Amino acid sequence: MSRCLSALLLASVLTAQMPVAPLAYHGLRLPGAFFAGNRAKLLAMAQAMGPGTLVVVKSMPTQPSSGDGERLYRQDSDFYYLTGVEEEHVVALLDGDKGTYTLLVQARDPKRETYTGQRLGVAGAKARGADDAVEFPAAEKVLGEALKQARRILLINNFDDDFRMKVLDAAYPRGAARWKSGYEKSLVDGRSILAEMRVIKQPCEVEMIQRAVDASIEGHLAAMRGSAAFTNEGQVAAALEGTVRSLGARFLSYETIAGAGSNGCVLHYPFNDQPILPGALILMDASGEIGYYTSDITRTWPAKGQFSPEQRALYDLVLKAQEAGIQELRPGNIHIASFMTAARIISDGLVDLGLIQGEKAEAFKRGDWNKFLPHGVSHYLGMDVHDAGSYGAPHPFHKHGGSRPLEAGMVLTMEPGIYIPKGIEGVEARWQGIGIRIEDVILVTPEGPRNLSARLPRKPEELERIVRDGARSRR
Ligand code: GLY
Ligand code: MN
Ligand code: MN
Repeated sequence: MSRCLSALLLASVLTAQMPVAPLAYHGLRLPGAFFAGNRAKLLAMAQAMGPGTLVVVKSMPTQPSSGDGERLYRQDSDFYYLTGVEEEHVVALLDGDKGTYTLLVQARDPKRETYTGQRLGVAGAKARGADDAVEFPAAEKVLGEALKQARRILLINNFDDDFRMKVLDAAYPRGAARWKSGYEKSLVDGRSILAEMRVIKQPCEVEMIQRAVDASIEGHLAAMRGSAAFTNEGQVAAALEGTVRSLGARFLSYETIAGAGSNGCVLHYPFNDQPILPGALILMDASGEIGYYTSDITRTWPAKGQFSPEQRALYDLVLKAQEAGIQELRPGNIHIASFMTAARIISDGLVDLGLIQGEKAEAFKRGDWNKFLPHGVSHYLGMDVHDAGSYGAPHPFHKHGGSRPLEAGMVLTMEPGIYIPKGIEGVEARWQGIGIRIEDVILVTPEGPRNLSARLPRKPEELERIVRDGARSRR
């Protein structure tokens, strides 16, 4: 068993001993060995670039909310992947020549710590695996010296513009001094290297994704069970969010999408505050995040437990496309293969239903289906819900997908949909106001696709039953 996995199992045992519900993952994190392994891999790549290579990684800046408020801090995924550190204002250095890992951290500050809790400081940084640690402001000098000495700087910084300028100035000084440095140093954007590292998930990452998925499944079930009694989209969203938070999600994987009726046709519907009208479907695309790993699940169900014939016909079509798309997520198939398969099924089905005219092969080639399915159907998932990594060379079929062959250890979504908003031109009124998407989280394995969210029902009769049983249990 890998060190990463055994430490995680220990963490699970510790969690399991706490007096909480069986599925609770509060405070669960991957073990230090996971982050150390990632650093070692990156350091080896940096060393292979030649002597004088310095890897510089910057934490996520804080984000204002309102007044003097700040958003709840979430570490940048790249930074977290390499350090496991959740603190702000931190710089990580990997020195290729010395093979050392240094953390430059905020100074301990008893007054500030009264408000927001204990900072890492030098001792905390070393406890997280740093060979050396220095607090700011003294750390400025250490950083300046390291940037000066380096011949090649591999920068991994997604969001801190000020820091980007600081490193750029160090590598290529402005003004009269530029000739001293430009030809001696190179500044390399290291993010694509890290993105590639993140594409294939390690077993302990898959386990953490599974936890996020499991908590999110409970959230979807809670929303479905309460659905018949809910009168507003906000209650649907709250049922999921309350559940995933109670199971240990500090963050949502993304902002909840809970659209009733035509609002389900707004792909990233952000409002969740409209009444649920009689006969409406609810489209909920929502998930919690556990231990810095996300989930991404969508279900669409009849709010009061009964599909209309038109809703059911479209639902069956999306489900058929999704199931066929999932089967394409296997090693060796190119990324866009699942999209081509799902889109063909939807296109043919829409011809059968009279929503697209003409001969099937011609209609598919014309791309009329794109009006009803205006998004890609599969993306990587991991620490970010749209996770890092290349999909390979563009493919002529569609801009949302690429030619990269899939490999075991990739985690992808499969999420076809059909959207027919109210007021759309050229479609009979009985089809309007219906938005359907079905989305699951799929692990590519050597044997084929494994649906990590399969426990959450998708069959239309099962969805109807869950809503009705929920209503009955409230009486
Ligand atoms: N929840 C966003 C997406 O499905 O891509
Ligand atoms: Mn998705
Ligand atoms: Mn989604």
